[in-house]
Amino acid sequence: MKKERTFVMIKPDAVQRGLVGNIISRFERKGIKLVAMKLASVSKELAEKHYEIHKDKPFFEPTVEYITSSPVVAMILEGNNAIEMVRGMMGATDPQKADVGTIRGDFGQFIGRNIVHGSDGPDTAEFEMNLWFKPEEIANYTRIDEGWLSE
Ligand code: RTP
Ligand code: MG
Repeated sequence: MKKERTFVMIKPDAVQRGLVGNIISRFERKGIKLVAMKLASVSKELAEKHYEIHKDKPFFEPTVEYITSSPVVAMILEGNNAIEMVRGMMGATDPQKADVGTIRGDFGQFIGRNIVHGSDGPDTAEFEMNLWFKPEEIANYTRIDEGWLSE
């Protein structure tokens, strides 16, 4: 299995609604390792860069506004197949369509306030980790349970 890193953001609605602990706890219990984390107010410039792939979409402006409206928690997570595994735990983009048991399915009601973000592939993960974190903000360490999470 491939050890991967992915960028995850707990969006402003989840921070405001007091869901940070629950969301991080889900990743911890799954055995996913936190390697970087910060609470941050997002500048318009950073939000526009983060969502630049969606620049021409009708939801671009509202999404930039949403992400800059209040602090977010930004993280880098590591685990086996972490990119796909984390996306699975988050559920479908639209919380109305997300399965119960997923983060968006359990906590969200509306696509414009969909709780979390996770990188959608290796290239986006690399781009987003570099955009949000400096190398010295990333902690390289071994978690004590790592030997029990793969053969
Ligand atoms: P994310 O990037 O945040 O992890 O979400 P995603 O891959 O599941 O969805 P994506 O297509 O990349 O969309 C990025 C974010 O833009 C907002 N959005 N709003 N109103 C709409 O139709 C709409 N579509 C997308 C959401 O915040 C979505 O997470
Ligand atoms: Mg996306």
